Amino acid sequence: MYNEVDLDKIDINSDPPSEEPARQYYYMAKCRNWVQDFIEQKGRRPAACIQTFGCQMNARDSEKLMGILENIGFEQSDNEEADFVLYNTCTVRENANNKVWGRLGYLNAYKKCHPHMKIALCGCMMQEPEVIEKLQRSYPFVNLVFGTHNIYKFAELLETSLMQKGMVIDIWKDTDKIVEDLPVERKYNFKSGVNIMFGCNNFCSYCIVPYVRGRERSRKPEDILLEIEKLAADGVVEVMLLGQNVNSYGKNLKEPITFAELLRRIEKIEGIKRIRFMTSHPKDLSEELIEVMRNSEKICRHLHLPLQSGSSRILKEMNRQYGKEQYLSLVEKLRKAVPDIALTTDIIVGFPGETEEDFLETMDMVKQVGYESAFTFIYSKRTGTPAAAKGDQIPEDVVKERFQRLLKEVQRIAAKKASAYTGKTEPVLVEEVNEQDKTLVTGRLSSNFVVHLPGTEEMIGKIIHVKLKECKGFYFYGEAVE
Ligand code: 5AD
Ligand code: SF4
Repeated sequence: MYNEVDLDKIDINSDPPSEEPARQYYYMAKCRNWVQDFIEQKGRRPAACIQTFGCQMNARDSEKLMGILENIGFEQSDNEEADFVLYNTCTVRENANNKVWGRLGYLNAYKKCHPHMKIALCGCMMQEPEVIEKLQRSYPFVNLVFGTHNIYKFAELLETSLMQKGMVIDIWKDTDKIVEDLPVERKYNFKSGVNIMFGCNNFCSYCIVPYVRGRERSRKPEDILLEIEKLAADGVVEVMLLGQNVNSYGKNLKEPITFAELLRRIEKIEGIKRIRFMTSHPKDLSEELIEVMRNSEKICRHLHLPLQSGSSRILKEMNRQYGKEQYLSLVEKLRKAVPDIALTTDIIVGFPGETEEDFLETMDMVKQVGYESAFTFIYSKRTGTPAAAKGDQIPEDVVKERFQRLLKEVQRIAAKKASAYTGKTEPVLVEEVNEQDKTLVTGRLSSNFVVHLPGTEEMIGKIIHVKLKECKGFYFYGEAVE
């Protein structure tokens, strides 16, 4: 779908071009030679498996990495017992790191019996110097390690690691570069993530993201629009605009533009039927955006608006730059302008110094806002963040008890919110055949609720009207209506 580059026409005996993305296509052509040798030796194409940890940003990055691998000639595999395995890592909470260490142990055992296998690591966790030290010390079987800023150089790095023994490591501290027009292998035909910006400038005191993803950089609107036009021509009906803080999109461009204006322009693209975006920081959510949402036919009736805590005191400690009252008045404005909007959120329990009173404020907010769904997290200490240096970390048993109480409340309210939809007929984008029951298909409402209904594969990618017959807490059973 991108400017197709014919790798066979590239002269790999010449010097590599210095400009991007031509340089990466040159290295893809070089890697292809390696793949040809592999096929001659083994009588089959090499299999590549990418495992994605973490957020939608990583999921999109993995599609780009797979696009490059497929272009080179690898065959996509879901099985980690493959010739090339890449872990695209997350480090937002400690347990994300632990998963990777655990899986590497398993891969090591497999590689001992399959020594030709190549193992690569990339993503946020690789931006932490302690991780790199540990890899060098104890995981010598890993072949390639790169970070978040040089992901566009994957083909070049892969070529280096295929040609030599030992571990190739390339980690950058930051970058202001955005490389366009590399290949992408989309997971779904009918929907796609679209990066609109990279990095984060907010430095919430608990969060490691600004340290591992660098400063905010927005893509140019014309590049984004062109990408979405091409996606639409390729059959995509829903786009999810991705950024750590989409509400500050465009502020640092040479010709500044607001996120609301970008949405207006995307709305005009024919073929695109649904627009979603994440994540919205409450402090930057503008009146203009609310207005655009109100008037839009395509922007989904769903907003993910991370609260993090209901206590203004804790919010200040978190450096969130809004308080409880401000958040509530924002919710009021949104509900007034877009009455059928579904709100979802992220909440952290057990931030250092959180008292029972602070926690009760969070519980109160959950009740007052009435979220359709909420992701709840136990605070995880991330080395290098200001919150990690605080003395008053909360004991584990206290946090766990609060977490359980919060989860119960979130689920109770979400079920109540969902049940209000029962009996309604809503447009649903059908996404897949149900894993458990093949006579059903699964889709999403504009509000992001999931619905299962009798159907067949041909319905995938279509928006159909569905009567929501039975509410099962956070999902529905329904039936297509004409
Ligand atoms: N501990 C727990 N949760 C965290 N998040 C970010 N950093 C941490 C942390 N140190 C959560 C926030 C954010 C979501 C993506 O992850 O709620 O919105
Ligand atoms: Fe982390 Fe805050 Fe940036 Fe979100 S806005 S990525 S929570 S620092």
